[in-house]
Amino acid sequence: MPTYIVLLGPPGAGKGTQAKVLAEKFDLPHVSSGDIFRENMKNDTELGKQAQAYISKGELVPDDVTIEMIRERFSRSDCKNGAILDGFPRTPVQADALEQMLRGFGGRVNLVPYITAPVQVLIERLAGRWTCRANGHIFHEQFNPPEKNGICDLDQSELYQRDDDKAETVLHRIEVYQAQTAPLISYYKDRGVLAEINGFAPIEEVSADLMFALKY
Ligand code: AP5
Repeated sequence: MPTYIVLLGPPGAGKGTQAKVLAEKFDLPHVSSGDIFRENMKNDTELGKQAQAYISKGELVPDDVTIEMIRERFSRSDCKNGAILDGFPRTPVQADALEQMLRGFGGRVNLVPYITAPVQVLIERLAGRWTCRANGHIFHEQFNPPEKNGICDLDQSELYQRDDDKAETVLHRIEVYQAQTAPLISYYKDRGVLAEINGFAPIEEVSADLMFALKY
């Protein structure tokens, strides 16, 4: 039976950080909608050009564009046994589309860890985040610093700060999250798959809580 885990939570809660831990632990692909958009922006594809305007303002990319992109990602064979979803779904329309896609594989969303942290913490985390150019590995100048400044520990590529991590864009992303994504909390609670995880704890502690929620 395939295993699909959806990480839910506001920007900076630690979804990307924990998705990488879970993907390794369960040997499942890490499907990050934000990473796929950024890869397309880097390669200047049509999708990248379309997404850029929304991402730079901290708005959501329209549902139809996002759902099509995830449908294409899920058409690859590595998602047939499951996936760790990070950043998708982000609206009830996307959640319904995901349910339908997974039904096609005989699967369903098994668990939705909802990672929370106070707004001030989210802002502090995003202001100090450094991301690796090659593979999106995530660091923080204070909470998870790389061994060498500006260089990824795992693949030695350059670390950069995301354009949408500017203070004013971060505040807008949090508002957008509250308005458009927070309704998914009750969506998944009603389906009996939501597990609340305190994200305001050291990274290893959050990972341990996730493993507990996943009964590992
Ligand atoms: P996306 O890339 O998905 O960004 P996000 O959801 O805003 O989340 P972040 O990546 O900012 O935060 P995170 O929770 O992953 O935190 P992280 O682990 O990095 O989306 C970007 C944009 O793309 C959106 O705004 C939208 O425009 C578009 N988009 C994407 N998906 C879409 C969709 N489905 N529909 C429409 N549009 C979409 O951690 C943050 C920092 O904190 C790091 O520095 C990390 O080292 C540190 N940290 C993590 N955990 C801890 C901890 N426990 N203690 C201390 N520090 C920690």
